[in-house]
This record gives sequence, structure tokens and C-alpha cells, in this order.
Amino acid sequence: MNESKQSPPGTPEISYTVFNDESQLKAIQGLIEKELSEPYSIYTYRYFVYNWPQLCILAQHEERYVGVIVCKIDHLSNPELWQGYIAMLAVDPEYRRQGIGSTLVEKAIEMMKAEQADEIALETEQSNKAALRLYDSLGFIREQRLLRYYINGVDALRLNLTVSRRSSDASLS
Ligand SMILES: CC(C)(COP(=O)(O)OP(=O)(O)OC[C@H]1O[C@@H](n2cnc3c(N)ncnc32)[C@H](O)[C@@H]1OP(=O)(O)O)[C@@H](O)C(=O)NCCC(=O)NCCS
Repeated sequence: MNESKQSPPGTPEISYTVFNDESQLKAIQGLIEKELSEPYSIYTYRYFVYNWPQLCILAQHEERYVGVIVCKIDHLSNPELWQGYIAMLAVDPEYRRQGIGSTLVEKAIEMMKAEQADEIALETEQSNKAALRLYDSLGFIREQRLLRYYINGVDALRLNLTVSRRSSDASLS
């Protein structure tokens, strides 16, 4: 995948690509680390991006990476159920409120649908209004509250989206 999205007038032209190169890891880490209450090791990033490179989507403005979503899909907990999972999502503060976050999530949903996902889950801090609104607007349901889920003691909400399978290849057009 390598595609641009038509941007509203006055906003930068953003292109979207999937992970394809170790050199992108630093940018991914840089975008995500600033936002996390608990840091991930480099092995966690590598686990996701090398097992599911097609589910790690980067948003780019010219040479600069300005957003990323990192996901996986498996059926480990139930052989009948393919579960997509959004592990990380971040947009550079200078580029927020321009639709990049929701575009990344929409593209990830399409990719996971193409891989036969039955549902897509994630956790986010209960106090994260921006993320909750974004996911609400895309149809995610608040399924469960997880008490003191994060190291900083904050509760999480588990969100879930039930999706209908799509029989197509994994291109994101
Ligand atoms: C959450 C985040 C990814 C949103 O990225 P973004 O590119 O600004 O999101 P979008 O522009 O696509 O916003 C989509 C909708 O989400 C909601 N939203 C986004 N930011 C918001 C904010 N600061 N306050 C309230 N609602 C917000 C709005 O409903 C928005 O639609 P609108 O602009 O038409 O009102 C970004 O704020 C971020 O990186 N936050 C830090 C990391 C994080 O919280 N990640 C999610 C953890 S799961």
C-alpha cells in the first residue's frame, strides 16, 4: 500500500504506507513513546511490525512521519474467531484534528477485514477523551472497564468492533 488521501484545502497532503523497513522503527517509536504512560521495549515494536507489517500503517507528510497505527490479528484465544487488535495509535501533536488518526484506524480496519477479522479490540485509558471520541465515531463499543490496568493506576476501557468479513485481497484502496 502506498496511497495519498485527498486532504481538505489548507491541510497538508498525507500519504499512507505500510511498514517495510527497519529504518522506520525509530520514527514509530518516537511517535508512540511520547504518548505512553508505560514504555514498550524495542522487542515489543519488533514483535508487531515484523509479524504483521501490513497492519502497521504510517502517515507521512513529505519526509516526515506524522502518525502510526500498529495492529495484529490472530485466533489464539478461540480458533473460530479471528481477532484483530489495535496495539498502538499516535499522531504527531502538530498534525492532530486533521483526520489522520481516524484515517489510520479506518485503513487498519479495512486491512483486518481483508484478513477475515471477526472483531477488532483495543484498550485505552478511561480518561482519553480524544481516543474515545474517535473510536466511538467509528462504531466501537465500550465493552469492559479494566480496573487499574496501567502502571500509573489509571483504569482502561476495552473497546470492541464487530466486523463482517470481506472477501478481498489486503490492498487498501
Ligand atoms: C487520539 C489521536 C490518535 C487522535 O488523532 P487525530 O489525528 O487528532 O484524530 P482525528 O483528527 O482523526 O479526530 C477524529 C475525531 O476524534 C475526536 N477527537 C480527536 N482529538 C480530540 C480531542 N483532542 N478532543 C476531543 N475529541 C477529539 C473528534 O471527535 C474528532 O473528530 P472532529 O475533529 O471532526 O471533531 C491523537 O490525539 C493522539 O495521538 N493522542 C495521543 C495517543 C493516544 O491517545 N492514542 C490512542 C490510544 S489507544
